[in-house]
Amino acid sequence: MCEVFDEKSDFFASATATPPAVVPRLQRIAKSCSLESKTTLLDVGTGTGALLPFFKESGGDLAQITGVDLSAGMLGFARERFPQARFVQDDVLHFEGGPYDRVVFNACFGNLYDPVAVLKHVAQKLLSDGGLVVISHPLGRAWLTTLKEKDPRMARALSIITSIQHSTESEKRKLMYISNHIM
Ligand SMILES: C[S@@+](CC[C@H](N)C(=O)[O-])C[C@H]1O[C@@H](n2cnc3c(N)ncnc32)[C@H](O)[C@@H]1O
Repeated sequence: MCEVFDEKSDFFASATATPPAVVPRLQRIAKSCSLESKTTLLDVGTGTGALLPFFKESGGDLAQITGVDLSAGMLGFARERFPQARFVQDDVLHFEGGPYDRVVFNACFGNLYDPVAVLKHVAQKLLSDGGLVVISHPLGRAWLTTLKEKDPRMARALSIITSIQHSTESEKRKLMYISNHIM
């Protein structure tokens, strides 16, 4: 996964990766995060930081944003473009920090090897009480459906996360919240 994105980082940093038609969608995604200047946000699979200008435009402060990504190539572009933000090269599954008021997965949830384990980690370690998880893709539902048909692993229902054992009541509440609001 990491090598794939290292190789593609030039493309993701280019204007071609964010065509004008996609801009209103990125604006909607950022707006759905309901950001204020003090809101802390973890951008999972931040890549080249494509969403950061939209977080800022919708009221967020780049200094409150942490981007985590596996790919050093992608992060190289993100660090150069947004020196005010913090970037960490890590697998989100092992990432420790926060807790954050918002945890955002844009165009990366389908890339996760074990999305259920990641959501559990988010609920246990990364999300603050009353926090919000946003899972989105700017290319829209139809495109994602095509992707799911090509790779059935991406069609796994998030509702299975509610059956995860050994969670505390607070974690269970967060996981229920995530599954009810996302799928
Ligand atoms: C298609 S890019 C999306 C980048 C960015 N979120 C955007 O909106 O343009 C997906 C990113 O997810 C990262 N990624 C995939 N699995 C990951 C994981 N387990 N932990 C951290 N980053 C991951 C990849 O390295 C890649 O940079």
